[in-house]
Amino acid sequence: MPSFARDPGTATYYEQRAAEYDEWYESLGRFASRPRPGWDAEVDDLCRFVHALAPARTLDVACGSGFLTRHLRGFVVALDQSPSMVTLTQRRLPAGIAMRGDALDLPFADDSFERVFTGHFYGHLPPAERAVFLGEARRVANELVVVDTALRPGETAEQLQERILNDGSRHHVFKRFLSAEQLADEIGGQPVLAGDWFVAAAASR
Ligand SMILES: C[S@@+](CC[C@H](N)C(=O)[O-])C[C@H]1O[C@@H](n2cnc3c(N)ncnc32)[C@H](O)[C@@H]1O
Repeated sequence: MPSFARDPGTATYYEQRAAEYDEWYESLGRFASRPRPGWDAEVDDLCRFVHALAPARTLDVACGSGFLTRHLRGFVVALDQSPSMVTLTQRRLPAGIAMRGDALDLPFADDSFERVFTGHFYGHLPPAERAVFLGEARRVANELVVVDTALRPGETAEQLQERILNDGSRHHVFKRFLSAEQLADEIGGQPVLAGDWFVAAAASR
């Protein structure tokens, strides 16, 4: 199974994708013509779900463009390996800090945060990287909230996907689709969001 978090191809892909990343959420560009019934309303629901999390000292791991990060309340630190993603997130996080860093080797002391939040990152990880990430998340915070992509009827749960960016470049990423129950089971917690497009689970040590 291919690496995700340690694959130089992943770093290249997301750095190149940063400026167009939100098109996925906002049904723009190549995503405008994709049949995604209920998507826009569920993106709004997901943002409300993130905003409804109790304010806490939060580390958002693999924050991407900060599309979800901006809805977190409390003192927020956002981390991503992509410099362009970090720049985009910092603009959306005037009272917090966005920084470069490795999700599998978090540059923080034990218990630096109350909560680790992560969106659409865990589901990309192959088993060995999953274990490292969960260990790191548990080390730096008591609580872990994971948002990911729902397993829809007829969808293949594990895929090696080809992704094409607006410049025509082609990239490959490993991607899993999860039920809220499976996600909760994997992180040792409870389902907290079970939508048609997005799921989330929360766990405490
Ligand atoms: C699918 S995006 C998710 C972005 C955002 N969290 C969201 O929910 O939309 C995955 C992100 O993981 C980041 N990433 C991949 N490997 C990483 C690593 N080892 N350390 C930190 N960030 C990483 C990428 O740069 C990218 O921004």
